[in-house]
Amino acid sequence: MMANASKDPYWQAAVRRETLDHPQAQAHIQDECAACHMPMARDQAHVQGKETSVFSLLPTLAKQSPSALWAADGVSCTLCHQIQSRNLGKAESFTAGFVIDTQKSPGQRPVFGPFTVDSGRTRVMQSAGRFIPTRGLHMQEAGLCGSCHTLYTHTRGPDGNIIGQLPEQVPYLEWRHSSYSDHQSCQSCHMPTIERPMPITSVLGLNREMFSRHAFRGGNFFVLNMLRRYATPLAVNAWPQNLAVACRETEKNLTTSAAHVQIEAVRVSDGELTVRLRLSNLTGHKLPTAYPSRRVWIHLTVKDAQGRCIFESGGRAPGGGIAGNDNDQDPTLYEPHYRYIDREDQVQIYESIMVTPEEKVTTGLLSAIGFVKDNRVLPDGFDKETADRDIAVQGRARKDPDFTGGRDRIRYVIGVGNEKPPFRVHARLWYQPISYRWAQNLDQYTAPETDRFVRYYDAMSADSALLMTDDMRTVK
Ligand code: HEC
Ligand code: HEC
Ligand code: HEC
Ligand code: HEC
Repeated sequence: MMANASKDPYWQAAVRRETLDHPQAQAHIQDECAACHMPMARDQAHVQGKETSVFSLLPTLAKQSPSALWAADGVSCTLCHQIQSRNLGKAESFTAGFVIDTQKSPGQRPVFGPFTVDSGRTRVMQSAGRFIPTRGLHMQEAGLCGSCHTLYTHTRGPDGNIIGQLPEQVPYLEWRHSSYSDHQSCQSCHMPTIERPMPITSVLGLNREMFSRHAFRGGNFFVLNMLRRYATPLAVNAWPQNLAVACRETEKNLTTSAAHVQIEAVRVSDGELTVRLRLSNLTGHKLPTAYPSRRVWIHLTVKDAQGRCIFESGGRAPGGGIAGNDNDQDPTLYEPHYRYIDREDQVQIYESIMVTPEEKVTTGLLSAIGFVKDNRVLPDGFDKETADRDIAVQGRARKDPDFTGGRDRIRYVIGVGNEKPPFRVHARLWYQPISYRWAQNLDQYTAPETDRFVRYYDAMSADSALLMTDDMRTVK
C-alpha cells in the first residue's frame, strides 16, 4: 500500500472530493494530501518554494516528467530511509513533519539503517546508489512511523478557511497509550524479522542478523485487490502475483493476528436466550485503526433444531452494507455502541463516526471537526479514563464498564418464546476497509476519480469484507 500510495484510486477520489467540497482551498488541499501519499514530489516542490499539484502529477502509463515519476513512487525507499532522527516522536514530526536533509548535495546524503556499514561497502553504495549508508537506530523506533501515521487534518469552513483540526488517524498516539509502547514497536509487528542470518545486498553482502522483512501488512486487502484487478488503468507496475501475495498476507494478518472473539456464556431461561460475547484486540492500536472508513462488526446468528435462523444481527447486505446499520440506510444517522442487543435491527459496529461543527454526520475529512462515536476496540493496557482528547473513546462506549483496554464484552438477549433447545449460536467478526457509506457518498460527485472509484467499489463490493474470526456454541 505504501508503494502505491499515490496510485490508490480511493485516495485519488478522496482528494478530488475534498477539492470539490472546498474549491477556494483546492491548491492547499492538494499540497496537504500529497504530504504522505506523494512525499517525494511534495518535498521537491517545497524545496522549490511551490505547492504540490496532485492532479497534474497523477501516475499514468505515459512517459512522464521527473516530478510525476517521484509522485508515482509513493512512500519510496529513499524517502523513508532519509528521514532524520530529529523530532521523531514529538508533535513537530507529526502530520509529515519528518525532516530530510535537503542541504547536502546529491551524492553526499545519508540513508539510514540499523547496521554499521564498513568504508569499502559504503563507497560501493555511494558510487552506485549516490547515497551514503549510515547507521541510524531511529529507524527502529515507532516515532519514525508516527511521523506519517499521526495525521491531523485541517477543518475547513464554508469559505475554505481553516476553522479547526481533526485527529483523523492517530495509531501512533493510540500505541503510545497502550501496553505495547514499552515492548513492541510498530516495526516489530509490521516488519517481522527473519530468524537466520541473511545477506541483504547481492553485491558483497555480509550475513546480517535479524533482517526485517518490509512486509508492512495492514488490513487493506480490498484496495490491494483493486490495484491488481485494475492495474492497467491505474498504472500499477507491481507484478500481479506479488500483489496477490501481499493480499493473502494481509488476509492472514487479519485472520490470525488482529482479533479474537469468544462466546463466553449462553443461557436459556423464561423464553430468553442470553449470549455473552468477548472480543479481544490483538493489535498495538485501536481495532480497526487509522483511516476512518474502516469498520469491524459482529454478525450473530441463532438457529433452531431444524436449522432455521431465528435471530440475526449484523448480516451482510448487498453492495457492501450491513443489515440493520442506520448509517448504511441514511447518511445522517449512525448505529450507536451497544452494551446489549435485543433486536435484529441493532448491530455492534466498531468504528469512528465523524461530525461537522454543526454536529452533522460526515465522511468529508476536511469538513469534520470531531467524532460522535469512536468505539474502536482499545489495545491492551489502554486506559480510557486517562486518554488524551485526541485518542478518547467517544459516544456510549465511554460509559460502558465492559469496554476497556484490550477488549469489549457484549450481551445478546433474544426472545425464543416457546421454542425448545438446542439452539446453535454463531458469532462472526467481519472487517471491512472501506465501508458502504464512505464509498457511496462519493457517488454524489461528478469527476473522473470519484466515478471510477465508485464503479470499482460496486464491481467488487461482494468481496469488500473479510471474516476475521468466529466462534460457535450449541445450547442444549
Ligand atoms: C500525515 C500523513 C498523511 C496525510 C497528510 C494524508 N494522508 Fe491519507 N493516509 C495516510 C495513511 C498513513 C493512510 C493509511 C491508513 C490506513 O491504512 O488505515 C492513509 C489512507 C488514506 C485513505 C484510504 C486509502 C485506502 O486505500 O483505503 C484515503 C482515502 C486518504 N488517505 C485520503 C487522504 C486525503 C484526502 C488527504 C488530504 C486531505 C490525505 N489522505 C492526507 C497518511 C496521510
Ligand atoms: C516506511 C518506511 C520504509 C520504507 C518505505 C522502506 N524501508 Fe527499509 N527499513 C525501514 C525500517 C524501519 C528498517 C529497520 C527495521 C529494523 O531493523 O527494525 C529498514 C531496514 C532496511 C534495511 C536494513 C536491513 C534491515 O532489514 O534491517 C535495508 C537494506 C532496507 N531497509 C532497504 C530498503 C529498500 C531497498 C526499500 C525500498 C524497496 C526500503 N527499505 C523501503 C523502513 C522502510
Ligand atoms: C512518508 C510517510 C510514511 C511513513 C514514514 C510511514 N508510512 Fe506507512 N503508510 C503511509 C501511507 C501514505 C500509507 C497508505 C497508503 C494508502 O492506503 O494509499 C501507509 C500505509 C501503511 C500500512 C498499510 C495499511 C493497510 O491499510 O494495509 C502499514 C502496515 C504501514 N503503513 C506501516 C508503517 C510502518 C510500520 C512504518 C514505520 C516503519 C510506516 N508505515 C512509515 C505513509 C507512511
Ligand atoms: C502487536 C502488534 C502490532 C503493533 C505493535 C502495531 N500494529 Fe499496526 N496492526 C497490527 C495488526 C494485526 C493489524 C491488522 C488489523 C487492523 O487493520 O487493524 C494492524 C494494522 C495497522 C494499520 C492498517 C490499518 C488499516 O486501515 O488497514 C496501520 C496503518 C498500522 N497498523 C500502523 C501501525 C503503527 C504506526 C504502529 C506503531 C505506532 C503499529 N501499527 C503497531 C498489529 C500491530
